[in-house]
Amino acid sequence: MADRIAEEKINQIRQAVDIVDIISDYVQLKKQGRNYFGLCPFHGESTPSFSVSPDKQIFHCFGCGAGGNVFSFLMELEGISFQEATVKLAAKVNVDLDLDLTSGRSEKKIPEEIQAMLNAHEILSKFYHHLLVNTKEGQPALEYLLERGFTRDSIDKFQIGYSLNSWDFVYKFLTKRGFSPNWMEKAGLIIKREKDGTYFDRFRNRIMFPILDRNGNTIAFSGRTIGADEPKYLNSPETAIFNKSKILYNYHLAKPSIKKMQQAVLFEGFADVIAADRAGVDNGVATMGTSLTDEHIVLLRRTLQSITICYDSDNAGIEAAYRAGNLLNDAGILIKVAIMPDGMDPDEYIKSYGAEKFRNEVIGASYTWMAFKFLYFRRGKNLQNEGDRLTYIEEIIKEISKLTKAVERDHYLRQLAAEFSLSLDALRDQQKQIFFAEKRKEQGKKPLEKNPAIIQKINVLKPAYYTAERHLIAHMLRDRDTAYKIQELLQGNTFNNDEHQAIITYLLSFYEEHLESESSAFLTYIQDDNLRRIVANIEMMPLNDELSTKELNDYIKQVLNYQKLLKIKEKEMELKEAERQKDYNQAALIGIEINQLRKSL
Ligand code: GTP
Ligand code: MN
Repeated sequence: MADRIAEEKINQIRQAVDIVDIISDYVQLKKQGRNYFGLCPFHGESTPSFSVSPDKQIFHCFGCGAGGNVFSFLMELEGISFQEATVKLAAKVNVDLDLDLTSGRSEKKIPEEIQAMLNAHEILSKFYHHLLVNTKEGQPALEYLLERGFTRDSIDKFQIGYSLNSWDFVYKFLTKRGFSPNWMEKAGLIIKREKDGTYFDRFRNRIMFPILDRNGNTIAFSGRTIGADEPKYLNSPETAIFNKSKILYNYHLAKPSIKKMQQAVLFEGFADVIAADRAGVDNGVATMGTSLTDEHIVLLRRTLQSITICYDSDNAGIEAAYRAGNLLNDAGILIKVAIMPDGMDPDEYIKSYGAEKFRNEVIGASYTWMAFKFLYFRRGKNLQNEGDRLTYIEEIIKEISKLTKAVERDHYLRQLAAEFSLSLDALRDQQKQIFFAEKRKEQGKKPLEKNPAIIQKINVLKPAYYTAERHLIAHMLRDRDTAYKIQELLQGNTFNNDEHQAIITYLLSFYEEHLESESSAFLTYIQDDNLRRIVANIEMMPLNDELSTKELNDYIKQVLNYQKLLKIKEKEMELKEAERQKDYNQAALIGIEINQLRKSL
């Protein structure tokens, strides 16, 4: 660990810098009302949706969701650590850091609940690993892995483990060590039975892959079945510490190599990441069974210039590679696509052909993005057939039209002309026509952003509780007393959205140490980038200065009602089940409960 910088120094810097000054070095800002606006440096856009608030000393982009304070701005943009950002800012405002005077313990405190979740994952991960490699119970799982080509080295490196075939082993293991069942349920490790409130283990008789965040904390697990149980992979649910849409498997271990090479390899499954690592490709990452998101891209773009997509070479894999490639391309990342023989995945390829062939003939021989698109549009077409051929040529010309460099357009037009013995001039004419036609179409549609996924995200209609929770958080952020009051009004209930709940967990723990609210200081206090972005977003919401009791109660009601609605749904299922079993007494009792719940709405 590097020297810690004292909290007082950080506060001193925060008070001395002006975020508008710092951001102006990177973005042209224009004042409009209280805030400044400019083109977001974190995603490609042509109309400004990036705003900076000098009052709150925070920034937020309405387009891509980036947001934070002056420290996180530098961290994200330059891909540097908190300490490095602090050193930079200190130099700007002439604060002397006396770096080797490790004055006081300024380690930031993590809320107790979150720390407990992390600790539980940590010891469980060690324990699962021990069960796999040292015990009789783990033997069949270990044999399965070795049979599949996993080595002992990679089993250790990736801390692969085994969960016992037991309903309550983990429950007992954790409670014996003082972990609260309530928190362990929230961490996704155990599940509560509705009937009697007892708990059982989520993962049973599975090969356990720990999932680490980029600081190396274990935050979730994925368990693979050994037999034919469904699902093949069982993941931890989304929790306050695990957010699938921003986690990349193996990012933590791969990061040094990614940084050094300015390049990563993106796989579909984590069996592939592990096999590739064994084959000497140690800059591999994979999404958690989901498609690539903007958050993944923001994370990747910090550390690299180019990505090799190495998805399964079946139809689904190629379609997914095309989608991921388009997203990455829009984000300005250089793309290559590695292709294997029909239908294979990287893990199978390595097993059949060996590491060297994988490095040289798959990764080393990967296609450029444009060459991949030639291949992509060719699939399922018979180019001997004139109709297919013309469709293909037109699709390719459309792609060529998207290229911004004239030399590149020229290169591919020549290639196309040569392949189909066409006149280059005719192709050029057609390309121009297509280019202007597409442009007119775009202007007619008045595109907001380059990236349609981003627009969608903004426009999605949010449920009532969601907006209510955001308003409540906004007021809690603004004022400490209001925060406590709202906490009280919730009567021990939590917010429905995990991220919102994580934010107030952080906030209440922040208020234990700080008597005043301070936007920028709180953003430094939050450890998680994703949550930080959400807070910045909420801070920028327009808000009434005064929170009337009525407004407050309405919000609280929205939050609590949603939980009641869920409860009603659950009871209605139970009712149906009771009726199906012809247990009319039970059905009547449930009916009464449902009525009471409805009345209380
Ligand atoms: P092996 O069959 O063990 O070789 O796994 P694989 O990596 O080849 O898996 P596959 O190509 O079928 O899936 C790729 C990724 O999708 C996996 O790494 C998982 O993250 C995810 N995935 C696959 N099956 C499931 C499933 O049943 N449930 C969930 N939640 N995710 C899955
Ligand atoms: Mn596989």
